[in-house]
Order: sequence, then structure tokens, then C-alpha cells
Amino acid sequence: MTTTRRATATDLPFLEEVFVITMDWNPANAKGAAHWRADPTFQQYIGGFPRSTDFGLVAERDGQTVGAVWSRYFTAEEPGYGFVAADIPEIGIGVVEGRRGEGIGRALLNALIAASTTDLSLSVEDGNPAEELYRKQGFVPVGRVGNSTTMLRSERRDAGPS
Ligand SMILES: CC(C)(COP(=O)(O)OP(=O)(O)OC[C@H]1O[C@@H](n2cnc3c(N)ncnc32)[C@H](O)[C@@H]1OP(=O)(O)O)[C@@H](O)C(=O)NCCC(=O)NCCS
Repeated sequence: MTTTRRATATDLPFLEEVFVITMDWNPANAKGAAHWRADPTFQQYIGGFPRSTDFGLVAERDGQTVGAVWSRYFTAEEPGYGFVAADIPEIGIGVVEGRRGEGIGRALLNALIAASTTDLSLSVEDGNPAEELYRKQGFVPVGRVGNSTTMLRSERRDAGPS
């Protein structure tokens, strides 16, 4: 059985692993942990987790951490890949190899959406099947950066007509 819980500072090493998973989603272009740990995006996305405005969730199965999702705010001066606005956090999500396709990613994303009170953004590279998951969970394309699509999920969707 898979359970989902809040990520804490002790989960940082696992979240670092998951950051590498997100960057190396395409095995044909994978650069490896050493590359990403030396890349400025590593600290930008996951360094110092949990900052006061970070929010993260970890999925566990049989006592093992098998996936994580987190959101972090960026600024226009130092935007993330999927930056939309300073008041819209960007998310990262990954499930360990061997546990994908079992519904863990969807469960994590849904739990983060349910806990979130803001719009959410993300960046997904062309060809990543994760884009389908994001669309199904209400994210819509709002821009392009290089060979990636920026997607946004409006929190107001759930609010219904006012
Ligand atoms: C993307 C990811 C987090 C999804 O988590 P998961 O547990 O594998 O996904 P789920 O089992 O919950 O599947 C949910 C949906 O994701 C989509 N999906 C995810 N991976 C897919 C794949 N390899 N092929 C086809 N569809 C896929 C499908 O739409 C699926 O919906 P369905 O079951 O109705 O077909 C996981 O596959 C992963 O870590 N991938 C590598 C890292 C990555 O790409 N991160 C996102 C970067 S933007």
C-alpha cells in the first residue's frame, strides 16, 4: 500500500534524488546525479528544502520512499523553467524507476493540488508522457520556453462560478 505524507527536512536527500529524476526523465539524454548536483538549478529547485513557503509530499510503499512532489516559489529575477508569476509556485514531481505507472505520481499530484490554495505551474519537456498526466489533472499550456511547455493549473477551477 502506498501512503503519502508531508515532506520534512530529513527528506531532503530523497528530494534531491527526485530532482535528478525529473531532470533526467529521458534516459536517452540523462546527465546523471553528479552533473545535476553541480548545476545551479539544483540549489534553485531543492536547496534548503523546506524553505518557509515550500510544500512537499513524499509517497511511501513498504517503508520505502518511492516518489515525491514539491512546490517552490520563484522570482522574475531568478525564474524556474516553468515560471509564470512570483505568487504562483512551480512544482516538481518524480517517482523512482520500477515504481512508475502504478498511480503513485497521480496520487502525489492530486494530494498536492488538494492541499494547495494557489495556482500551480510547471514545465514539461516535449515528448515527456507526464504532460498527459498534467492535462488530466487540469493543467493547461500557457507558454513555451525552449523545447518545453509551461503549464498552469488555476486554483479557481475548483471554486466554480461565483
Ligand atoms: C511522471 C511521473 C511522475 C508520473 O508518475 P507515475 O506514478 O509513473 O504515473 P501514474 O502511474 O500515476 O500515471 C498517471 C498518468 O501519467 C501518464 N504517464 C506517466 N508516465 C507515463 C508513461 N511512461 N507513458 C505513458 N503515460 C504516462 C499517463 O497519462 C497516466 O495516466 P493513465 O494511468 O490514465 O494512463 C513518473 O512517471 C516519473 O517520475 N517520470 C520520470 C520523471 C518525470 O518525467 N518527471 C516529470 C518532469 S516534468
